[in-house]
Amino acid sequence: MSVVKISPVPLDQAPEVTEFLTRLDLGSLRQDEISAFRGRNDSWAGVTSTGFPVFVKRVGGEPSTVRPRVDRIKAMGELLNTHPVVNAPRFLGADEESGLVAFALLQHAQSGSDLGGDGFTWELAHSAGFQVGTLHTLQLPQAVAEDTSEPPLPPLKALVALPLEAYAVASGAELEAWAILHNDPVVVAEIRKLAAWEKDSTPVLVHGDLRLDQFLHHHGKLHLVDWEEARRADAARDVGAFVGEWLYRGVLGMASHEETVSDREVVANGARRFEMLRPNIEAFWSGYLEARPAARADRDLATRAAAFAGWHMFDRLLAAGYERARLTPLERAAAGVGRKVLINAADFTATLGIGG
Ligand SMILES: Nc1ncnc2c1ncn2[C@@H]1O[C@H](COP(=O)(O)OP(=O)(O)O)[C@@H](O)[C@H]1O
Ligand SMILES: [Mg+2]
Repeated sequence: MSVVKISPVPLDQAPEVTEFLTRLDLGSLRQDEISAFRGRNDSWAGVTSTGFPVFVKRVGGEPSTVRPRVDRIKAMGELLNTHPVVNAPRFLGADEESGLVAFALLQHAQSGSDLGGDGFTWELAHSAGFQVGTLHTLQLPQAVAEDTSEPPLPPLKALVALPLEAYAVASGAELEAWAILHNDPVVVAEIRKLAAWEKDSTPVLVHGDLRLDQFLHHHGKLHLVDWEEARRADAARDVGAFVGEWLYRGVLGMASHEETVSDREVVANGARRFEMLRPNIEAFWSGYLEARPAARADRDLATRAAAFAGWHMFDRLLAAGYERARLTPLERAAAGVGRKVLINAADFTATLGIGG
């Protein structure tokens, strides 16, 4: 399976896309030849009239957050355009007013989440770790260095109660996911502790939203996309997100007849399946430490990363609930696993593949 494509917003309903591409001297896209990718934001992909393969996305959401997100994308794009190790699709331009950003399109790329357990080879996972480790050694671009906004997750305020506006638009499954958090003061306290712990760490340049679908495999190389949450923050955020992605897959891939298995079986199957996925994390971690040997001096990095991986289960749970009526039993099981890892992070580093 290749990257999931969906129908793009028609270009005549978004004339700013054509204006933007024309201003960048890239030609224009034709309505019958474009596609879009699944993501939070609208996107348009295709080959322009001048023969240029482009990917355009519109940074959407809360208006006050659009400009800083575009600024981060721009700063990271300019930094990585000339970087020899951290691969990203070539950044072509940004427009703060419309929220549009353009990149070279990696045609027929496969995303890390499509590659899955088998397709994500040792070499790719090692490369992912090496690139992220290298990223964490880079000097911060000015716009990111000056940005003191909090990374959006974990949402510390919403941990106690959901704001009314968010409650009103939440789906049944999202409310279920929030209720799991709100009814668990131990988890809430652990998440708060993690946030405080992060504040004491030495911050580095992080990607900030390192899910598997942000990796694109193209012509044998792994590229990293979606830099809108790049920040000066704890390295454990990125390491923990990568670990958490595989952990979540381990839990979700556990059983075929999920309604009939017992909790005990769910956990046993999940552990077994995770054993098969763990080499991906081990390869990532060895690549990471090769690129950033100084990380060994940060003695708590692996423990904080494990805690972030635990948090990541809740993050995935909230995302999974989007526009759905109910969570599945396996999704609820993922929250249970996340809880354990969050609370006992130090005991889980070796099991998670970031012990050595
Ligand atoms: N330059 C690119 N070439 C090909 N596909 C891309 C490119 N950039 C992003 N994509 C695909 O589009 C998806 C959405 O892009 P992304 O920047 O992650 O936006 P969002 O903020 O909507 O998640 C990515 O997960 C990836 O599959
Ligand atoms: Mg994305």
